[in-house]
Amino acid sequence: MIVLIGFMGCGKSTIGRSIAKKLNYRFIDSDKAIEEEKGMSISEIFDTKGEEFFRAIEREYVEKLSSEEKIVLATGGGMPCYGDNGSILQRLGNVFYLKCSPQTIYERLKDDTTRPLLMCEDKLAVIQQLLTMRNEKYESAANYVLEADNLTADELTELIINKCHEKM
Ligand code: S3P
Repeated sequence: MIVLIGFMGCGKSTIGRSIAKKLNYRFIDSDKAIEEEKGMSISEIFDTKGEEFFRAIEREYVEKLSSEEKIVLATGGGMPCYGDNGSILQRLGNVFYLKCSPQTIYERLKDDTTRPLLMCEDKLAVIQQLLTMRNEKYESAANYVLEADNLTADELTELIINKCHEKM
């Protein structure tokens, strides 16, 4: 399994989908899978049940995953940062951290309304704060840290596929 982790807006889903297409793997987006399972959007889950409830669902979800070969998993941005989710993800496969700067993330998400944690006045400050808190967790969960600010989705796709081939 190829696992993509990183902050909201770092490109996990776009790049994950593109890797899966090239390798003919199945693509799983944990947020989408949770939304389908619960019949609610992530925003609705946060609004009606709260973040703690979402983290518990996310935890259940990661525990149920098995280390199947031909899968690319894009995780929710917070998933590797809670409990021992990071080490569970590492046992499942090759973990890539798509590392972006707060500025890049802000530019991509400044008009987004689907991320409940960023529905606030000062988005950039919240991004900076969360990223500072989370960076170490992302790095320790990852087998590879990829500086993703200045690479296109195609370049990142190639890079990840090459790293996986080198390891085989
Ligand atoms: C979150 C990231 C989101 C989603 C939820 C919480 C986070 O996923 O799981 O809004 O805590 O960073 P994406 O990274 O796919 O946006």
